Amino acid sequence: MSFDIDTYRRITAKLSFEDIDFDAFRDCPLTADALRCLRYMHDVENHTVCYLRDVLVTRAHRDPEVTSFLTLWNFEEYWHGEAIARVLAAHDETSGIGRIAAMRQRLPRRDGLRPISFQVASAVTPHLTAVQMTWGAVNEWTTQAGYARLAGLADHPVLTELLSRIMKQEGRHIDFYASQAKSRLGGSRAAQRITRWALRKYWAPVGSGVMPTDEVRFLSSYLFGGEEGRAMADRIDRRVDRLPGLDGLGLMKGVVAA
Ligand SMILES: [Fe+2]
Ligand SMILES: [Fe+2]
Repeated sequence: MSFDIDTYRRITAKLSFEDIDFDAFRDCPLTADALRCLRYMHDVENHTVCYLRDVLVTRAHRDPEVTSFLTLWNFEEYWHGEAIARVLAAHDETSGIGRIAAMRQRLPRRDGLRPISFQVASAVTPHLTAVQMTWGAVNEWTTQAGYARLAGLADHPVLTELLSRIMKQEGRHIDFYASQAKSRLGGSRAAQRITRWALRKYWAPVGSGVMPTDEVRFLSSYLFGGEEGRAMADRIDRRVDRLPGLDGLGLMKGVVAA
C-alpha cells in the first residue's frame, strides 16, 4: 500500500455539497439520536485544526510529504465540518462559528499545554511521527466507519448522499495514514514498541479529549453497539492487527465493552 502525494495534491478539493438538498431535512428531519451524533461529528471535524497545531510542533513538521498531506487534509476536514453544519442549521440547531466558539471556550485549561507535551515527546523519542501516523490511521478508520454506521441507522437519502461524499475523502486520509504507519512501523521495532505502548495507554475514540464523556459514551454505543456496530468495530481491530507489531491491541473491543 503506497500513497502518491502528487495525486492527492491534484485531486484534493473542497467537499462538493452545493447540490445537496438541505431543505429536505425540514420536511423529513433526522431523529434526535442522529442529530446528537452529527453535533459530535461537527465539533470534532472542526477541531482538526487544533489537533494539527499539536502535530506541527513535533518533528513531523520536518517531513515535507507529511506537511503537504496535513495541509490538504486539514482543508478537507474543514469542509466536512461546514457540510455537517448545514445539516444542523436545517434543523434550526446552532452550528458553524457560534458552536465552534462555544466549544473552544469549554476546552479544559490543560488543552493549552498540549503543544508542550507534544514537543517534549518529540524530543524524547525519534518515533513520535510513527505514533502520530498510526493514531491518524486508527482515527480515520473509526471516523469512516462511524459515518457509514450513521448513514445506515439514520436511513435518510440526503444524509446518505452527503456522508458518502465525506467518506470518500476519509478513505484517502486512511490511505495516507495507514501507508505512513505501515512503513514507519515496519522499519523499526522501537517504533512498534512505543506506538503499541502509546495506543494501549492513551488511545480513546476520536473527540474524547474535547467532548463531554456522556457524548463520547453515547456515540460509541450508538454507532458501535449492536450486532452490526460490533462487527464494524471488530473489522477496525483487525486492520490495526495487520500493522507491524500491533497485533492483538483490541482498541475498539475496549470501546464497545466500556
Ligand atoms: Fe472528516
Ligand atoms: Fe479524515
